[in-house]
Amino acid sequence: MAAPLHVPVLLREVLQLLRPERGGVVVDATLGLGGHAEALLEASSGLRLVGIDRDPEALALAGERLSRFADRLVLVEGRHEDLALHLERLGLPTVDGVLADLGVSSMQLDRPERGFSFMRDGPLDMRMARKGTTAEELLATLPGEELARIFREYGEEPRAGAVARAIVDVRKTDPVRTTGELRRLVARAVGGRREPGRDPATRVFQALRIATNRELVDLERFLDDAIARLSLGSRLAVLSYHSLEDRIVKETFREETTGCTCPPSFPVCVCSRRRVLALVTRKPVRPSEEEVRANPRARSARLRAIERIAEAR
Ligand SMILES: C[S@@+](CC[C@H](N)C(=O)[O-])C[C@H]1O[C@@H](n2cnc3c(N)ncnc32)[C@H](O)[C@@H]1O
Repeated sequence: MAAPLHVPVLLREVLQLLRPERGGVVVDATLGLGGHAEALLEASSGLRLVGIDRDPEALALAGERLSRFADRLVLVEGRHEDLALHLERLGLPTVDGVLADLGVSSMQLDRPERGFSFMRDGPLDMRMARKGTTAEELLATLPGEELARIFREYGEEPRAGAVARAIVDVRKTDPVRTTGELRRLVARAVGGRREPGRDPATRVFQALRIATNRELVDLERFLDDAIARLSLGSRLAVLSYHSLEDRIVKETFREETTGCTCPPSFPVCVCSRRRVLALVTRKPVRPSEEEVRANPRARSARLRAIERIAEAR
């Protein structure tokens, strides 16, 4: 089988922000198929890279792709939210750059047996790490109200309640087992609602994937730990693909770049908060029309970066 392809999103912009020519140790916290990592390693022979991914299949494929950089590369099978632990094990108190390219890779989407995509029929698995509870098990066991909350909060699905009720109804006789079954059920439950260029099942699939992989719950921990470990002058760059992720990144960056919070009427600062981080991107960097034409999966990407400008408080 030909090696699966994942075209790295906003590649030039990621390189400009992370400045690999400075060398040092950079963490790619979502290595995927190693597209961004390969470009970072190619850009500077003085750069070492720690590549983390929770998906053993992605890690093996990236390892093959990056084998020529083996002496400057460490692969870690694990979750980015355990960054502190991974770096402690590697004896790295600080690092000189961190990248996170959130979400799923094209390889995961394109493999029907992984169950991420409604475009191909397959079992409703959706587990990036291939362990733990599957999406099918969530649909079979969670109470209707919890399913509705997931569809509403993680998918912003306007008919979350109707979809949850339809699932609870169907599972009395037969559980929902495949991506095709779920897609048809959602289409029936949301009735005639159509968003141009979007399958009616898009929001529910996104929500279920986020819930299966605890994606939003763990993002904040990752961001806090990555920021805490940036060396002076180094940057964290994050690519997100939907508004919920982007909101967490944006708010964390805003909070972290706030200095003194004393009211303006105070003659002197009493909070002692010093600004030690600065926003590098005031607005998120978006892909050009040309990039979206060449790689439609880049469509919703937003890239934000933050830099350590002083030692930690
Ligand atoms: C969009 S892909 C990365 C693609 C990569 N930048 C490239 O150019 O090939 C996202 C990857 O992040 C991984 N991932 C998602 N959540 C993760 C987490 N919490 N911890 C570690 N890896 C995660 C997925 O398994 C997937 O391989």
